[in-house]
Amino acid sequence: NHSRSLEGKTVLITAGPTYEAIDPVRFIGNHSSGKMGFSLAEEASKRGAKVILISGPSSQTTDDKNIELHKVTSAKEMLNKVFEFYDRVDIGIASAAVADYAPKEVAKEKIKKNDDNLTIELVKNPDILKTMGEKKTHQFLVGFALETQNEEENAKGKLEKKNLDMIVLNSLRDEGAGFKNDTNKIKIFTKTGKKEFDLKSKDEVAVDILDFVESQLLK
Ligand code: PMT
Repeated sequence: NHSRSLEGKTVLITAGPTYEAIDPVRFIGNHSSGKMGFSLAEEASKRGAKVILISGPSSQTTDDKNIELHKVTSAKEMLNKVFEFYDRVDIGIASAAVADYAPKEVAKEKIKKNDDNLTIELVKNPDILKTMGEKKTHQFLVGFALETQNEEENAKGKLEKKNLDMIVLNSLRDEGAGFKNDTNKIKIFTKTGKKEFDLKSKDEVAVDILDFVESQLLK
């Protein structure tokens, strides 16, 4: 029984994809549905936390009154929204699939179909979680790593580089893991530890992640 175990804590969660506009009708996006982040938000709320959920475009909804939902579109908007709240956050969990690059310029009018080839120049987006890591004072930071190869090495690299306390690895090589599915299969890494979990529903994965966070906070 986890009841009220996060009472008094503020948990900030990023969720969903970001959309980076190309022109008024097109964008660069990805397959994130927001499910993982919404499951985490609802589980944190059940445990008594005040939850700030910052989500990119997603069809997920919640009627939980303890979840303050902020909808954003692009990575830059997500970054700005996160830092409206960051000072007050005790636990930050970055489950959003943020676009690493965005079009350098957004065309004012719909791009017409003309030449056989079209080049769109992209520029690097801010890394929201890395910025959170750089500005960390008291926050406990949890990242995600979505990998397709060299999974563990890449995840541990992100744990280090982004100054995280913990990282949740999901691999697209595992059936039923990652995007869109109602299930996920994760491994959790800290600087010194590792724990592997079975394939389960995203609601159950959220329970495992928050149990792990709480076990780390008690250390
Ligand atoms: O939304 P669902 O359909 O339920 O799918 C869930 C999920 C697969 C999206 C989720 O479990 C997940 O893995 N989220 C992170 C996806 C990702 O972009 O991973 P990454 O390895 O590229 O990024 C590493 C970490 O840095 C992530 O915590 C990410 O939120 C963060 N990041 C990345 C780039 C960036 N510009 N800003 C960031 O904050």
